[in-house]
Amino acid sequence: MDVNLPKVEYDLQAHSELRFEVEVNEPIQLELLEGTAEIYGSELVKGCVYKFYRGRKVAVFTAKETPMVLYVNVHAGLEQMRDQAAEQKSRGPRIMLAGPTDVGKSTICKMLVSWAARLKRTPILVDLDVGQPDLSIPGTIGASVIETPVDIEEGYNLSGPLIFHFGHITPQNNIDLYKVLISRLAEAVSMRAQNIEQTNYSGVVINTCGWVRDGGYRSIVHAAGAFEVDVVVVLDQERLYSELLRDMPEFVKVIMLQKSGGVVERTRTVRETTRDKKIYEYFYGTREQALYPHTFEVQWSSVKFFKIGGPDLPESMLPVGITLADNKTKVVSVTPSRNLMYHVCSVSTANTEKEIIQSNAAGFVVITQIDINKESVTLLSPSPGPLPFPYLLVMEDVKYNDELRSAIYKK
Ligand SMILES: Nc1ncnc2c1ncn2[C@@H]1O[C@H](COP(=O)(O)OP(=O)(O)OP(=O)(O)O)[C@@H](O)[C@H]1O
Ligand SMILES: [Mg+2]
Repeated sequence: MDVNLPKVEYDLQAHSELRFEVEVNEPIQLELLEGTAEIYGSELVKGCVYKFYRGRKVAVFTAKETPMVLYVNVHAGLEQMRDQAAEQKSRGPRIMLAGPTDVGKSTICKMLVSWAARLKRTPILVDLDVGQPDLSIPGTIGASVIETPVDIEEGYNLSGPLIFHFGHITPQNNIDLYKVLISRLAEAVSMRAQNIEQTNYSGVVINTCGWVRDGGYRSIVHAAGAFEVDVVVVLDQERLYSELLRDMPEFVKVIMLQKSGGVVERTRTVRETTRDKKIYEYFYGTREQALYPHTFEVQWSSVKFFKIGGPDLPESMLPVGITLADNKTKVVSVTPSRNLMYHVCSVSTANTEKEIIQSNAAGFVVITQIDINKESVTLLSPSPGPLPFPYLLVMEDVKYNDELRSAIYKK
């Protein structure tokens, strides 16, 4: 269908913000004619035409909108701490964003690292949200040095993010593993920061997931400790704020900010579609930058399938000396069968079975066919075969049906 969209001029100065969602098939084009404005922390270049495709939610701001001023103030505070760190040759600020779902946590992280990158800082962004992650596909946690503001049309521009396999889309499904991985990621982030001076001064911005009760709350406290955060920003929840004030050590600054009125609540279906789209884009790229994945067959004898975490057993049924946490973080061999169909797997960089839990993921593949007679699986992979490493970690909760991929955009 051809849509002839009208050209609209909008006075941002008068309204201080412009929000829209692209609902038509044709891209919406946006051009800044006068003044200054930004999208989630990245400044629009005057005269440059930006294209947004169907499904994108866009908010253009001048820095006048109220919560936006508060977020800019957080950034200004971080900048002071970064200057101080550079002067004293010490570690820069580590800030964590926490709050229930749909309060703008990911968006504020995006703005904080973009504003920092605009000032030539190179902070590390950590994403602990396994359901709606920004750095990789669902079922993972990760970290990446951010060197340039978030690309207005394409999102994060990442080089060599560090990604760990979790395998579920909510931490609830294996909270023990989640905590182990957070600690491991924190160590890796500290090491990376120590090696790059500018990154060390620039600090770390940590995004968390929206589960803020019970185990979710405890994992937030665990993450704050593992990353040795200096500041926790709580978005829009009094109870979480007072709990964190109570439980954080005194040197951690806990602040509460209101959410921006523009944050959109996402339904379960929208979340699922976003997850599918993330995996689709991992293999096929975006409309602006297409990628061409490969499909190849692998003999069962040349790979080994694992999952992390044994079955949920009552403590009394575990062997002597093995705790529930040990059981949920052990590496379990998986026998190939039709049950593996459509599962996403992480290609582990581990060289031995023992290293699996400590190792990051080199990339991801999807099992698109299983041939029991030939004892082989067919994999969808971003690069041609053979696989660079022999261990495939099955994501128990993350599946992707390549044949249905077009459905993602039709919704
Ligand atoms: N200030 C804003 N104006 C308009 N839209 C916004 C704004 N902030 C966020 N959004 C949109 O609202 C939605 C939810 O925001 P975001 O993903 O940042 O929330 P979140 O707290 O990280 O949610 P989750 O807990 O699911 O990870 C997104 O689609 C985002 O693009
Ligand atoms: Mg989020």
